[in-house]
Amino acid sequence: MPRKLFITTALPYANAPFHIGHMMEYIQADIWVRFQRMQGHEVHFVCADDAHGAPIMIAAEKAGQTPQEFVAAIAAGRKQYLDGFHIGFDNWHSTDGPENHQLAQEIYRALRKEGLIAERTIEQFFDPLKAMFLPDRYILGECPNCGAADQYGDNCDNCGAVYSPTDLKNPRSALSGAVPVRKTSVHYFFSLSSPRCIEFLQRWTASPGRLQPEVLNKIREWFATDDAGHVSLADWDISRDAPYFGIRIPDTEDKYFYVWLDAPVGYLASLKNYLGANYEAFMADPAVEQIHFIGKDISYFHTLFWPAMLHFSGRKTPDKVYVHGFITLGGDKMSKSRGTGLSPLRYLEVGLNAEWLRYYIAAKLNAKVEDIEFNPEDFIARVNSDLIGKYINIASRAAGFLAKRFGGKLSSDLGVEGRALLDGLRAAGPAISELYEEREFGKALREAMLLADRVNEYVDRHKPWDLAKQAGLDAALHDVCSVCIEAFRVLTVYLKPVLPALSTRVETFLGIAPLEWHDASRALGAHGIGAYQHLMQRVDPAQVEALLAAPAQAAPAPGGEALAPEIKIEDFAKVDLRIARIVKAEQVEGSDKLLRLTLDVGEGQQRNVFSGIKSAYQPEQLVGKLTVMVANLAPRKMKFGLSEGMVLAAGHADDKAHPGLYVLEPWPGAAPGMRVR
Ligand code: MSP
Ligand code: ZN
Repeated sequence: MPRKLFITTALPYANAPFHIGHMMEYIQADIWVRFQRMQGHEVHFVCADDAHGAPIMIAAEKAGQTPQEFVAAIAAGRKQYLDGFHIGFDNWHSTDGPENHQLAQEIYRALRKEGLIAERTIEQFFDPLKAMFLPDRYILGECPNCGAADQYGDNCDNCGAVYSPTDLKNPRSALSGAVPVRKTSVHYFFSLSSPRCIEFLQRWTASPGRLQPEVLNKIREWFATDDAGHVSLADWDISRDAPYFGIRIPDTEDKYFYVWLDAPVGYLASLKNYLGANYEAFMADPAVEQIHFIGKDISYFHTLFWPAMLHFSGRKTPDKVYVHGFITLGGDKMSKSRGTGLSPLRYLEVGLNAEWLRYYIAAKLNAKVEDIEFNPEDFIARVNSDLIGKYINIASRAAGFLAKRFGGKLSSDLGVEGRALLDGLRAAGPAISELYEEREFGKALREAMLLADRVNEYVDRHKPWDLAKQAGLDAALHDVCSVCIEAFRVLTVYLKPVLPALSTRVETFLGIAPLEWHDASRALGAHGIGAYQHLMQRVDPAQVEALLAAPAQAAPAPGGEALAPEIKIEDFAKVDLRIARIVKAEQVEGSDKLLRLTLDVGEGQQRNVFSGIKSAYQPEQLVGKLTVMVANLAPRKMKFGLSEGMVLAAGHADDKAHPGLYVLEPWPGAAPGMRVR
C-alpha cells in the first residue's frame, strides 16, 4: 500500500536570503522525500516564506518598502538556492497568502468556540520615543533565567528559556535605545495551561514513535511541576497590537495574530494552495501522514503550540516531528554569522558541485538531534575518496572497455563470482532502505560505500586492464566490465535520494528509465549502454578555500579584480556621491562608447555627463531613472563637450571576456541631491 505523505520543512523568515542552516534542513528533508518517492509512495512536499512579524515590518520600513514588497523581493531570491541544491519542493508559498489568512482565522474561531481563548489586559513595554508597543524582539536585556546579556524579549538564545519581555532585566528599546515604559493593552491568550490542553499534550507527546527520545526529555522539563503541583507551562499570548504585519484577529480592529500563531498554519496553507480543491479530501484521509522537519530551536512551537492548536480546532495533528541539530563551521552556529561563513550561493558561484554538499551533509546526518560540523578537509576527503574514488570510479573503469570492445552491450552471463557479488549488493537493499526511512543517512551511505569497496576489490582481483591486453580473454573482460556496470547501477539506486542530478546522468549513460528502489533487485541483463561521459569531478581544494575566504580576501572570480588598497573613512568622505535623476539620455555622434546624460542633482541647474555605457543601455531605458554619481569630480573637457561628473556602474575588469555593465539604481525613497555615504 503506497503511503500518503505530507512533508514540510520549517518556513524560513522572509527577512534574509537562505543560509547554510536552511540548506541543511532542506537537504535532509529532500533526501527523505526522494527516498519515499522512489518507494512509490505519494508525497507532497511543501514550504513557504514566513512573512509576518515585527522584525520584517521594521526591516521593510527601513528599506523604504511595504512589507509586501519586502517579502516579495526575498521570495524572488529563493528559486536559485532551491534549484541550485536540487531541493524538490512541490510548492513554495507565503504565510501572507489568502489561504493562510483564512485558515488561521478559522483555527482561531474554532479555538474560541472551544473556550480556549482568554482575553486579558496585560502590561507591556511601550517605546515612548517611537510611540509603539515594543515587539519582543525589539527589547533587549538580560535573560531572567540565566542572566545572559543582550537577549531578546521572547526567548533566550543562550539557555532556550521562553519568557515575556517584562521579565527581562535592565530592558532597553532596540529601536530607539529608550528605556521602555509599561503600558496596558488587551491581549488574547491560548489557554495552554488548561487541564484539557495539558492532558492532551502529555498524551500526544508521549505517543510512541512520534518524537525523538531527546525531544521528549526536553518536553518533560516543560511539563515539570512546581512544589504546589502546578505545571510550569503557561498560557500563550497570541495577539499583537497594531502596527503589525500579520493577520487580523477576527472581531477586532487593531489586533493581529502573533507571527508564531499563523506561521505553522502556513504548512496547511501551502498545501492548500498546491492541492486546490483536493485539499479538504486529502486532509480528511486518515491514511495521510503529516511530518514536519525542523531545527532544534523551534521544537517548543512544534511539539506544544502547534499540535494543541490543531487538535482543539478539530484537525489532524502531526504524525511526526523530526528535529535536527545545527550545522556549524568552526563551532559557530552559522545562522548568526554575517558576511563570512559558508554562503550557499557563494558555494555554487565558486563552482562547487551542489551534490558534494548533499553527500557530505547526508554522510554526517543521523536521526538524533546532534549538531554537525562542516569540516573543510573532511568534506574534500569524503567526496574525493568515497564518492569519486569508490563509487564513480567503478563506472569509469569499466565503461571504456565496454564501448570499445563490446559495442556498449552488457554480457548476460557475468560469471559465478560476479553473480555472487551482485546478489550481495542486492541483498543489502532492505537494510539500506530501513536506514533511509529512519533518517540514518550517514549509516546508509556507509553501507553503500562498503558495497562499493567490495566491487572495487572484485575489479582489483580481475584486473580488466590486464584481461584487455591478453588474447582469448574477451569473454572474461566482458563479464567483469558488465558486473561493474550492473553493480554501479545498483549502487546508484542506493545513492539516488542523495544524488538526484548525478543519477539522472547515470540513467542517460546507461540508457535506462528513472531508477526506482525496486530496480536494485532486478537484473539489467544483456542491455546496451550509451557512451560514457564524465559523471562527476573531484573537489579542487582551491574551490573550498575560495568558499571559506572572507569575501574581501576571496580569490578573484574569473575576470574579477583584486581589491584596491585599504583606505580610511576620511579618504572615502572626499568622494561626494549624490543621487541624480537622469533627465535626458542621448546618443553622441561620433562615439561608439558614450551616451550624453543630463542629470538633475537637486542643484536647481542640470549637469552634463558623458558616460561610457552605450554598449549596455538604450537611451530611452535610462530616462527618468535615479542613479548615483560622483558630484565633486573635477570637470573634464572631452572631444564632445564638458563632462561634469561621473555615473557609477558595475562591471568586470576584463570587459572583453565578461561584458556587461550595470548602472547603479537606489532603492525607492532616494531623491536627487541626497548624499550617498
Ligand atoms: N520562521 C521560523 C519557522 C516557522 S515554522 C512554522 C524560523 N525561521 S528560520 O529561518 O529562523 O529557521 C528556519 C529553519 O532553519 C529552522 O528549522 C531552524 O532550526 C533551521 N536552522 C537555522 N539555523 C540552522 C543551522 N545552523 N543549522 C541547521 N538548521 C538551522 O525559525
Ligand atoms: Zn538564558
